Amino acid sequence: MPLVSPKEMFAKAYNGGFAVGAFNVNNMEIIQGIMEAGSEENSPLILQVSAGARKYAGQNYIIKLMEAALEVTDLPVVLHLDHGQNFEICKEVVDGGFTSVMIDGSHLPFDENIALTKQVVEYAHGKGVWVEAELGRLAGVEDEVHSEENVYTDPDEAVEFVQRTGCDSLAIAIGTSHGAYKFKGEAKLDLERLDTISKMMPNYPLVLHGASSVPQEFVQMANKYGGQIGDAKGVSEELLRKAAASGVCKINIDTDIRLAMTATIRKHFVENPTDFDPRQYLKPAREAVKNMVKHKIKNVLGCSGQA
Ligand code: G3H
Ligand code: 13P
Ligand code: ZN
Repeated sequence: MPLVSPKEMFAKAYNGGFAVGAFNVNNMEIIQGIMEAGSEENSPLILQVSAGARKYAGQNYIIKLMEAALEVTDLPVVLHLDHGQNFEICKEVVDGGFTSVMIDGSHLPFDENIALTKQVVEYAHGKGVWVEAELGRLAGVEDEVHSEENVYTDPDEAVEFVQRTGCDSLAIAIGTSHGAYKFKGEAKLDLERLDTISKMMPNYPLVLHGASSVPQEFVQMANKYGGQIGDAKGVSEELLRKAAASGVCKINIDTDIRLAMTATIRKHFVENPTDFDPRQYLKPAREAVKNMVKHKIKNVLGCSGQA
């Protein structure tokens, strides 16, 4: 089955009150773990590649790995560029066969974000490729861009932004952030703001970045086996389920996959100090990715059986 556009996936998700998971990929084991989870749950999937992942693995390796994955599945799968920083990167992935791109002009002034997003929309739509944009700023680090604080998305600006750019989906800032340290105090999201935005933009797919839940069992496991992960805190699964029922059709998850893999590998090393064949620790790590993604699909995104 060839790669698909998110269009139908999101229409179904919107109407069904569920979300599709967008999982970050960097290597073969992560791709395989996600694909196995999708297949066991019969779920639609979005695999997304950051600029850092393109640098690490090479765009062509990722595309070839995806081709191998697609040969053995009938699931609808989207290949998406995560946080495209400029027109050139978006053009390269569109030309390389991605079916969806994100142009992230969220760090730019409003009108500059609109101009950049519009340029990408014009090119991508010419090739039938979906465009996600971002308005508002998430605190934390994403590739080289770092923001100290959240700047929540203004609902009126969101409407104007979508009208003027023609972007197909919009990532909004309502209190999530990237990485494992999302909240110092209580973990909360501005769901009222989400509700206002989604009411002002009916049938329009919204996107939530920085949506890992940072399960404490994996933080504790990593620390038990030599890790030093401090006061990590993520977004509760309950809040994510509410967001999915309120117009959020795509939920981005990277940190939780990293945590599951790393904690599992640490455990393996401590318990099997004589092992040195990478397959011995990458096999359980791949299994941990699969289990994490299955858990998300079933219990957080609500997209089991929706392929
Ligand atoms: O937005 C951030 C994603 O988690 C990607 O992270 O830039 O380290 O690959 P990365
Ligand atoms: P997390 O760091 O919460 O997994 O967010 C990932 C993300 O938004 C990728 O774009
Ligand atoms: Zn993100």
